[in-house]
Amino acid sequence: MLALKAFHVMAMVTWFAGLFYLPRLFVYHADTEDHAGRERFKLMEKKLLIMSHIGMGLTFVLGGTLAWEYGLAWFKASHWFHAKLLLVFGLLAYQIVCGRMVRTFAADANTRGHRFYRLFNEIPALFLVAIVYLAVVKPF
Ligand code: HEM
Repeated sequence: MLALKAFHVMAMVTWFAGLFYLPRLFVYHADTEDHAGRERFKLMEKKLLIMSHIGMGLTFVLGGTLAWEYGLAWFKASHWFHAKLLLVFGLLAYQIVCGRMVRTFAADANTRGHRFYRLFNEIPALFLVAIVYLAVVKPF
């Protein structure tokens, strides 16, 4: 069970590598004018999105298995976990939006500036703080 939890946390770190760095690539990509530079960003974004999807999938599968192993009584009593799941769905939505942005950049159809992506880039950190706090402290 502890090994499962360790791999769950490792998968989460892999997912967050993408959640942190993909929007950072958007910041630089939005400012890039030359063809070669844009093509390089497109490739990096595509590969990072795939890695991030894998991290997310593993986080869900391993976290879901942990919850399943703990059982229904644990699930009902763990209110912090309900709050965590709500936030995890928020992160899932963020990941979907990132995927759409990768496709928009791939089609050279981005209309947003680097300032927008700088702000957008801050969102995963807020989720990380809230989710890890809930998972470790279990305040309710
Ligand atoms: C569907 C998604 C997820 C599910 C079903 C899930 C489920 C779980 C479960 C059942 C545990 C064990 C809790 C315990 O032993 O008391 C756990 C631990 C943990 N989870 Fe998740 N989790 C998910 C996503 C995430 C995400 C996105 C993060 C980070 C942002 C995260 C961070 C952690 C951490 C740090 C722990 C270790 C807590 C500790 O034992 O101190 N989880 N998760």
